[in-house]
Amino acid sequence: MKIWNYLQSSVIPLFTITALAQKVIDLSTAEWTVSSPAYNISVPGSVPSQVYLDLYYEGVFSDPYFGLRWVTCANWTYEAKLDGLDEAVPTWLLFNGLDTFTSIEVCGQHVASTNNQFRQYYFDVSSILNSCSGAPTLSINFGSAINITADIAAEPGQETWPYGVEGLFEFPNRQFMRKEQSDFEWDWAYVVQLPPSTVYIRNSLLDIYRQGQLNNLPPEQNAPWIVNASLDVLGSVPESASLHLDIIDIDNTTVASGSLQNVTNMDTRIGGSVVVDGQACRLWWPTGLGPQNLYYFKITVLDGGRELASVTKRSGFRTIVLNMMPISDSQLARGIAPGNNWHFEINGQEFYSLGSNFIPPRWYPFCPRVTQTKMKQLFQSVVDGNQNMLRVWASGSYLPDFIYDIADSMGVLLWSEFQFGDALYPVNEEFLDNVREEANYQVRRNNYHPSLCLWAGGNELENLELSVAAAADPGNDKWRQEYEQLFLGVLLPAIYGNTRSISYIPSSTTNGYLELDFSLPFPMIQRYDNKAEGSIYGDTDHYNYDSFVAFNLSTYPVGRFANEFGYHSMPSLQTWEQAIAPEDLHFNSSTIVLRNHHYPAGGSFTNYRNSSKGMGEMTIAAELYYPVPHMADPVANFSAWCHTTQIFQADFYRSQITYYRRGSGFPERQLGSLYWQLEDIWQAPTWAGVEYDGRWKVLHYVAKDIYQPGIVASYFNTTTGDLTAYVTSSLWSLSTGTATLSWYGFDGNLLASPTNLDFLVGALNTTKILQTNTNEIAYDLKDAVLRMNITATGSLPNSDQVKVFKHEYYFHGLDLGEAKLRDPGLVLEYNEQSGNFSIKATKAVAAWVWLDIPAGTLANFNENAFWLVPGDEKREISAKVKNDTSEGNWVHGVTARSLWNNTLA
Ligand SMILES: *[C@@H]1O[C@H](CO)[C@@H](O)[C@H](O)[C@H]1NC(C)=O
Ligand SMILES: *[C@@H]1O[C@H](CO)[C@@H](O)[C@H](O)[C@H]1NC(C)=O
Ligand SMILES: *[C@@H]1O[C@H](CO)[C@@H](O)[C@H](O)[C@H]1NC(C)=O
Ligand SMILES: *[C@@H]1O[C@H](CO)[C@@H](O)[C@H](O)[C@H]1NC(C)=O
Ligand SMILES: *[C@@H]1O[C@H](CO)[C@@H](O)[C@H](O)[C@H]1NC(C)=O
Ligand SMILES: *[C@@H]1O[C@H](CO)[C@@H](O)[C@H](O)[C@H]1NC(C)=O
Ligand SMILES: *[C@@H]1O[C@H](CO)[C@@H](O)[C@H](O)[C@H]1NC(C)=O
Ligand SMILES: *[C@@H]1O[C@H](CO)[C@@H](O)[C@H](O)[C@H]1NC(C)=O
Repeated sequence: MKIWNYLQSSVIPLFTITALAQKVIDLSTAEWTVSSPAYNISVPGSVPSQVYLDLYYEGVFSDPYFGLRWVTCANWTYEAKLDGLDEAVPTWLLFNGLDTFTSIEVCGQHVASTNNQFRQYYFDVSSILNSCSGAPTLSINFGSAINITADIAAEPGQETWPYGVEGLFEFPNRQFMRKEQSDFEWDWAYVVQLPPSTVYIRNSLLDIYRQGQLNNLPPEQNAPWIVNASLDVLGSVPESASLHLDIIDIDNTTVASGSLQNVTNMDTRIGGSVVVDGQACRLWWPTGLGPQNLYYFKITVLDGGRELASVTKRSGFRTIVLNMMPISDSQLARGIAPGNNWHFEINGQEFYSLGSNFIPPRWYPFCPRVTQTKMKQLFQSVVDGNQNMLRVWASGSYLPDFIYDIADSMGVLLWSEFQFGDALYPVNEEFLDNVREEANYQVRRNNYHPSLCLWAGGNELENLELSVAAAADPGNDKWRQEYEQLFLGVLLPAIYGNTRSISYIPSSTTNGYLELDFSLPFPMIQRYDNKAEGSIYGDTDHYNYDSFVAFNLSTYPVGRFANEFGYHSMPSLQTWEQAIAPEDLHFNSSTIVLRNHHYPAGGSFTNYRNSSKGMGEMTIAAELYYPVPHMADPVANFSAWCHTTQIFQADFYRSQITYYRRGSGFPERQLGSLYWQLEDIWQAPTWAGVEYDGRWKVLHYVAKDIYQPGIVASYFNTTTGDLTAYVTSSLWSLSTGTATLSWYGFDGNLLASPTNLDFLVGALNTTKILQTNTNEIAYDLKDAVLRMNITATGSLPNSDQVKVFKHEYYFHGLDLGEAKLRDPGLVLEYNEQSGNFSIKATKAVAAWVWLDIPAGTLANFNENAFWLVPGDEKREISAKVKNDTSEGNWVHGVTARSLWNNTLA
């Protein structure tokens, strides 16, 4: 309740709907009770809400994360009186999300049943209200999803799949329901009363594209813009109605205005479009690639001179395409391997997608993160981390508009998915119709955001589900046909039928299409495994928990784009302390093991066995590559272990990211790295780079470093001993620079005079600056490191300014546990005047230097997790504070450590 009040007041939607002469009652203002006769519970409730939240705040249970399956197995009824209605006026109920199986009654009369959390529902209740005796009541019975899906699964003739196809994580039968895994919530709900000849806009589509543009294909960039709008209304649009558009810039200047043409009026839907001069409007770009120009689009429904309703949406002018076209002759001539493209183009320009996977933060109940402030903090970390794209993974819920709004203004592209993942789905007519409604609603609702860069049918379907089904049931084409019925037959038309501006892929990981022909009933014919020898096609998804081969580059996939890869690590001590008792602060305590969902429980109620495997993987990786802590103080030891698992995670991701990025200049022409995963939605061992409260793990700093436009990195072939180094650039023009290569002993002494060399690196390309073999290196790799640093000049996309880029990278023997680490003599200082820290190694090489922020402060440094050699000038570190409860005293609690500390008792 408290959280929701806060959320409600902090959400200022950037699109507004003006309704005239109508009465719209926001049901969050009604007095609700939530009850379960079976458990004899009846407590106050709220809207939007979640049954767990309402029960938790009313003290029905005390631990929000434990022993709550009984809530899931019960039915819950929300009930309220509807005050202030005029019973003579036509009246609708409008729900923007009911989770999931409900039975709705007004005045004790059945109105409707619903079964899809992701749809908008609206019901005309005028006649029921007319015959209502006494004060009208609204009652919504939310059925137990776990029980109802068990019943659906048991229906005669219901679909079944071969063993092992349906990914089982917590609850069985999830493929039968259109809901996320958490239970019984509801979004905004309204009662709308419409006097004669008025309408209420319940949903709207705004699509901005270049004239002639078709989905999935790069448009002509000189073509004028088309603005297409279409409004879904309650009530009935008069035949004589027209549409008017105003385009208003951020300073409230109207830049274009006029009537929409080719108006189609279908009573409850009215649409039209207009050509807008391409020169009048400034383009929207993702962060790092140009400015985020935004405009307000006001669409008004007019009848004669009378304004019936209007909607205003904030959007921008950009084209974004996932280009999967065949490799052209001119691309072949540039050394690109044959096959198909698989990369994004913004405003006609190919670019490198740098980012991660975003876990939809829809685990609402105890998740105060889902506020404007928290989401802005998170997106600030994305932008500060040099990330321009997030993949909004399928297994939560569709994002609310306010998160897209933040992404629009901060320039973060959001690859969005329909909520399907790691399963195959029923294809009976009822299910497909239900999904069709869902998809049309969601696409029309959020298509207008310039940050929206792709719709994907779902997570790990083509690469995982279809291959598991094919292996389990060889020769049976049924599974693939059913997959196509849903993902090409239902979802694709929801995109292509509503918008021209967005590309679609049926599965997030895919080899793309064999053919795209808009005259076919299914315009997209999938390639699947129809691959030619030596050709490269799709994007890649890579997990390997055998840490022994973590740095063996030959185990990484060669593809056009990496959309998922990762390894889990522990959060910091500070984060654990927020969630678990002091006696549980040791590596394999039961609480920690139960919070670790890798590997998932697979339907059982406790998860010691599968989780222990995942805990073991973190331990083994730490032991393989680093000195591991043996500290006397148990909490310090626990903290150092958590930190070491983070170093391995970051090290492993960096190795993959540098490999993928270098691929931009290799035959695979690799143009994307989205690691798994951006952020945590609770305190637990996960793949995240940002912990639950926003604290950066080692990974987020390392990703920030390696996602800079110009980087240097080494590449070691563990089989042959070949060692190379490359400079890689994601800029759009040629850069020139100098590299310095210097061998140091771990004692900090230079082993030879540094080598300087000049290089040129092309746009989205790479250049080799070192070729040797570790057998030819004169130094013992247990006591030598190669420092490589570059200074380059180039210009950022859409900027005339010449910029200087610097980057540094250390090559070392694979196992730092064997390295002759010495006390680096770190000296950390805080400068009151500048507010900056400085740090220096005074005695020896410092590996993985880490500045640690005390609990109670959310801040991040401009860099962290780097190496230092003595003799260099002290490193200046600035901090960005996002939330501080220490009144500024945290600066005195910052500590510095390096890998050397792992060797201390
Ligand atoms: C759901 O199923 C469980 C287990 O069979 C049962 O105890 C419970 O009463 C059912 N709930 C409802 C609302 O029918
Ligand atoms: C539980 O709710 C569902 C959906 O509203 C309904 O069909 C079912 O009859 C309810 N069961 C009980 C025991 O109330
Ligand atoms: C634009 O107009 C709105 C509404 O009239 C007002 O709140 C806002 O401050 C104006 N913005 C600017 C930049 O003038
Ligand atoms: C309106 O329709 C005509 C005929 O189909 C077409 O030529 C024109 O481009 C359309 N105008 C807009 C703005 O879509
Ligand atoms: C990368 O640069 C090299 C050297 O200039 C050039 O031969 C190659 O074609 C470039 N790669 C691409 C994909 O343009
Ligand atoms: C490492 O060398 C082996 C043997 O020459 C080769 O097969 C492999 O492709 C190389 N790995 C990489 C990533 O280049
Ligand atoms: C590399 O770092 C050293 C030490 O800070 C510096 O002297 C040198 O100029 C740097 N080289 C380049 C190319 O930036
Ligand atoms: C700031 O930190 C306090 C204490 O950890 C927390 O309760 C509060 O929610 C945080 N606020 C924001 C906006 O991060």
